[in-house]
Amino acid sequence: MSSSPPLASTVVAWARGNLRDLPWRRTRDPWRVFVAEIMLQQTQVARVVDRWTGFVERYPDPATCASAPQAEIVRGWEGLGYNRRAVMLHRAATRIVRDHAGAVPSGLDELLALPGVGPYTARAVQAFAFEAPVAPVDTNVGRVLARVAGRGLARRDAQEWADSLVPVGESWLYNQGMIELGAMICTKPSPDCGRCPVRGRCAWRGIGDDPAVGSAGSSRPQPPFTGSDRELRGRLVDALRRSPVGVGSLGSVLGCRDVGRGEAVVAGLVEDELIELEGGVIRLVGERVTRGRSVS
Ligand code: ADE
Repeated sequence: MSSSPPLASTVVAWARGNLRDLPWRRTRDPWRVFVAEIMLQQTQVARVVDRWTGFVERYPDPATCASAPQAEIVRGWEGLGYNRRAVMLHRAATRIVRDHAGAVPSGLDELLALPGVGPYTARAVQAFAFEAPVAPVDTNVGRVLARVAGRGLARRDAQEWADSLVPVGESWLYNQGMIELGAMICTKPSPDCGRCPVRGRCAWRGIGDDPAVGSAGSSRPQPPFTGSDRELRGRLVDALRRSPVGVGSLGSVLGCRDVGRGEAVVAGLVEDELIELEGGVIRLVGERVTRGRSVS
């Protein structure tokens, strides 16, 4: 048995003086928190910092977002990558207006029912907007927990343990602290155990095989972006943010002469309802069209 203070109070005490001043940490507004967590799903913090403020000022509530054309939201998503999330966010806003009178719900099941919301995002909104005693477990938190436990954790075990650790009344600070620990100290490649506030409670402490590898929530190596279909999808959506694209110029827009591959990229984006193809012209879904031309 360790004589160190409990994990949660150590994390809370450390978090009091060590959280980065990130803009979404200055608000508890559920919609603003919701937007931040959707953006943070697959995009680095620095890039989200650049985009979040402008987005939530332009779309300060779900109703404003829902009433904008989808194409406009996709334009506002520029630089964030994984453009499907913009479609999901727009749909989530529409559902929030339709099913929840325009207010982001606080219940787990209601949040999970929204497009683009998984177990992590739902609990992040609960904890960071509503102070609910639940623990969002992302790659950062999953890694910290596995290392503290000294063994790989199954998803359900990680979630149950994580939820059981949340101190009543301190959910916001504790959970931000866990994310911060994972992001700044207990990093994947080079944990700084010497500066870690919970080293006295950690079974691993950087010695021997890393228990976080393959544990719940751990990140898998990403395939290379350059040359991938994801890169081509991004290129086409970037071009469509500016103007519609005739199918005849698809090859030059994509920088890819393989017609079959170009068609597959278009088909994938049509399937995701990000773009539409009509009369030989590709445009963003939800773009207003007047006499064959798109206007933004
Ligand atoms: N990643 C996911 N959620 C985050 C948050 N609230 N702060 C910093 N990084 C995060």
